Amino acid sequence: MDNFIFQNPVKLIMGRGMIARLSEEIPSGKRVMITFGGGSVKKNGVYAQVKEALKDYFTVEFWGIEPNPSIETLRKAIALGKEQRVDYLLAVGGGSVIDGTKLISAGLLYDGDAWDLVLAGKMVTDTVPLATVLTLPATGSEMNNGAVISRHETKEKYPFYANYPVFSILDPEVTFTLPPYQVACGLSDTFVHVMEQYMTAPGQSCVMDRWAEGLLQTLIEIAPKIRENQRDYQLMADFMLSATMALNGFIAMGVSQDWATHMIGHELTALHGLTHGHTLAIVLPATLRVLRGSKGDKLLQYGERVWNITSGTRDERVDEAIRRTEEFFRSLGLTTRLSEENIGMETISEIERRFNERGVRYGENGDVTGTVARKILEQAL
Ligand code: NZQ
Ligand code: ZN
Repeated sequence: MDNFIFQNPVKLIMGRGMIARLSEEIPSGKRVMITFGGGSVKKNGVYAQVKEALKDYFTVEFWGIEPNPSIETLRKAIALGKEQRVDYLLAVGGGSVIDGTKLISAGLLYDGDAWDLVLAGKMVTDTVPLATVLTLPATGSEMNNGAVISRHETKEKYPFYANYPVFSILDPEVTFTLPPYQVACGLSDTFVHVMEQYMTAPGQSCVMDRWAEGLLQTLIEIAPKIRENQRDYQLMADFMLSATMALNGFIAMGVSQDWATHMIGHELTALHGLTHGHTLAIVLPATLRVLRGSKGDKLLQYGERVWNITSGTRDERVDEAIRRTEEFFRSLGLTTRLSEENIGMETISEIERRFNERGVRYGENGDVTGTVARKILEQAL
């Protein structure tokens, strides 16, 4: 186990009716900017609950933070927030609204263009306090300090780090209205977050391994039931908590991490607009196939503990573990091949070019270069 420091300051507030607690959590007298996506919260009653809870506050609303939040949109929110002198932010939505609001929280206290903060790649600690009401389990953004910001003009998409939310409210009932495709992408994203922190080398931490495997098994157990009935409170509560626990640092203590699948997936979103969780369902099986040499021992452990694969030669067991993983994504209703999304060699060459130009080396061993990314994408064709 590597040395580590762990601290997660987010107050997690979970359950039915908990949105009403907003007025107990946000200090009175704050000038609150509430940020939203495209309007789903008006249809499912979340907006009405938030407005009721904040009726005694000064509030200003910013609408239209799109999936894969763009700097172009966020600049407008920052300008509005500065003009209205807001000193508290409440993000109401999925990962995109929360991520975008993290950049707003930094941009409000920054005099230059907020895109500078993204490009600088440094964690920003000078921020306006931010809280969230989560409506889509997937990213873990409600309980981590990361965000991913896009720039449409140049088709770029990069990670950004700022302060954690002060608190996050998770009411599983608000997920009942999610489109099934978003549920599938959320399950896929959660699964791959766990894999990025688990599917490296064995023997680093028994505790982390068992927690990660527990989350993977939970997802495998609940996914088909959610497809049957998305309005089951207990199932959606477990989905929500799994997504939060998958990317809030709890399963990353003292262990190495990969993230190559995510970085390749971000390029597919930047270039084609493909939904984040869907890109991962396409890339992860191919990453495992290409890196089966260095990940072989962990793939065997994963096969045995998560999928009960206990017989066959080493190669057969590894094959089966990867096959079951791809099959899981297909069972969610997602495609798992680039060709099924009409993405081909041109995109593969462009991603290789971008990675080479940036000189990146992803993966727990720092060996996923542009050339290796090309192999992975060719495997995903
Ligand atoms: O915009 P509205 O109208 O609200 O509709 C949204 C959006 O169209 C809809 N939706 C959300 N909650 C709903 C709902 N529709 C009905 N009922 C509800 N309760 O769902 C659509 C997708 O929302 P979005 O926020 O884009 O999805 P998600 O939460 O998957 O976020 C994806 C973004 O997060 C980034 C991704 O790259 C992507 O940009 N990620 C952020 C991470 C982080 N902060 O740590 C890590 C992840 O790996 C990921 O990269
Ligand atoms: Zn993700």
